[in-house]
Amino acid sequence: MSNYFCVNGKIVLAKNAKLQVTDLGLIRGYGIFDFLKVENGIPLFIEDHMIRFQNSAISMGLNMSYTVEELKFLVMKLIAKNEFKKGGMKIILTGGYSDNGYLPAKESNMVILLTDLKPPAKRNYSKGIKLMLHEHFRHTAVVKTTNYIEPIRLAGELKKAKAVDVLYYWDGKISESARSNFFIVKKDNTIVTPINHVLKGITRNRIMSLASEHYEVIEKDITFLDLKNATEAFLSSTTKGALPVVQIDDIKIGNGKPGKASLLINELLKKQGKKYKSNFMK
Ligand SMILES: Cc1ncc(COP(=O)(O)O)c(C=O)c1O
Repeated sequence: MSNYFCVNGKIVLAKNAKLQVTDLGLIRGYGIFDFLKVENGIPLFIEDHMIRFQNSAISMGLNMSYTVEELKFLVMKLIAKNEFKKGGMKIILTGGYSDNGYLPAKESNMVILLTDLKPPAKRNYSKGIKLMLHEHFRHTAVVKTTNYIEPIRLAGELKKAKAVDVLYYWDGKISESARSNFFIVKKDNTIVTPINHVLKGITRNRIMSLASEHYEVIEKDITFLDLKNATEAFLSSTTKGALPVVQIDDIKIGNGKPGKASLLINELLKKQGKKYKSNFMK
């Protein structure tokens, strides 16, 4: 937890950080956000995250008057004020105080929070995880909205299925997980990630370019048959990096153990993160 948050450009004590209850984020669930990791006080890949944040705002018709540089300045100011070294940073933009309680206000509300961040258990990387298939697709999937109603509602079912998360499919095609993108490795050593109904994850983008030096990487539909024939599968996200998936419902992926692609990709991601941090200091 941090002592200070940022509300509409002003840094305030966390306990005094407030929005009114008429905010459209509360009454209609209308809002967007972005999330990044902070390490050594450096917001990792902040430019990519702030560009996506701006694009999300535009897609949702939300007024966002800050440039990427201004957003970066606010984030750095908040990190410095909190002397924040390690954790997560969440930037949220809501529909504001709507005139008619339905359409977004002229002025959106923007909040920046610094949060604790718990990485997935080490065991999940050494053993791999199980996912539960769920028929669903996210409307406006390319936008990082604050709407996570579907997977939160399914928390009980996940527990029963002993699965760590959901894997969405629609019309026989896999898209993504609740808070992660999805990849498979095929027998011919190509890496495939779904192209439709997905958030263009920052980690997904990084993986696609890093892995392309070692594998052919393709964006295309993934079917259930592709899952059955895959030699490897993994999720990707800012918090998880590349997290091996070894079972999906009753489908065993490959030999049921994490594979070498996710291992290599995690190394490449770490290396790129280190490079980003050392360049940031210059
Ligand atoms: C629906 C969804 N897909 C994918 C991701 C992964 O995105 P990123 O790599 O930018 O963290 C997230 C992250 O929260 C997400 O919510």
